[in-house]
Amino acid sequence: MTVTTNWQTQPQEIFAMGPIVPVLVIENIEDAVPIANALIAGGINVLEVTLRTDNALQVISEIASKIPSAMVGAGTVTNPETFQQVVDAGAKFAISPGLTKELLEAAKASTVPLIPGIASISELMTGIDCGYDHFKFFPAEAIGGAKAIKSISGPFPNITFCPTGGINQDNMGNYLSLKNVACIGGSWLVPDDAVANKDWHRITEITKAAVEASKQFV
Ligand code: 3PG
Repeated sequence: MTVTTNWQTQPQEIFAMGPIVPVLVIENIEDAVPIANALIAGGINVLEVTLRTDNALQVISEIASKIPSAMVGAGTVTNPETFQQVVDAGAKFAISPGLTKELLEAAKASTVPLIPGIASISELMTGIDCGYDHFKFFPAEAIGGAKAIKSISGPFPNITFCPTGGINQDNMGNYLSLKNVACIGGSWLVPDDAVANKDWHRITEITKAAVEASKQFV
């Protein structure tokens, strides 16, 4: 961040906590802590809980209160109202799929950092104008993937990305090997059927394999 904020954690620190950020869609509150613990056991401590389910805010509260050491954040934050809701729920950071000036300004006035999403150079310039220098790049595979992010490093060498959307263990290396990518996000670590079967061990095994595979790129 090039402007002064009261953010309790800087995006740079969050990006540096691990190369893989799990993108979580959690329907049931009782699954929240087991999923978080399974990911932590696999070596991941940064969790993005998306606001795509009715219980998402309670899921964030549950993880924040029961596992204080987890860096739990909220995804799918799209306006100042939802930003405030996730702050109240205990989110330690917020991620948006895109950006608006209203959201950028609201987050700057908060203690909770925002990682805004961009899919175009003009959106990136809007974010930079507002003082931001860490962004989500979404939906990564559909908008040019690693090639696009590599090209952006020419005119914008000081901007760092967390790409998400269509990324998995097979293609994450394309992104993690770029100098302007600090981490990637993806939902593949927590398959729907593993959650349905409460197979927490499987989530840990997938996470361990992904973390191990990421080591060759970072
Ligand atoms: C996101 O919200 O960041 C993406 O939907 C995650 O994309 P994936 O499901 O393709 O990993």
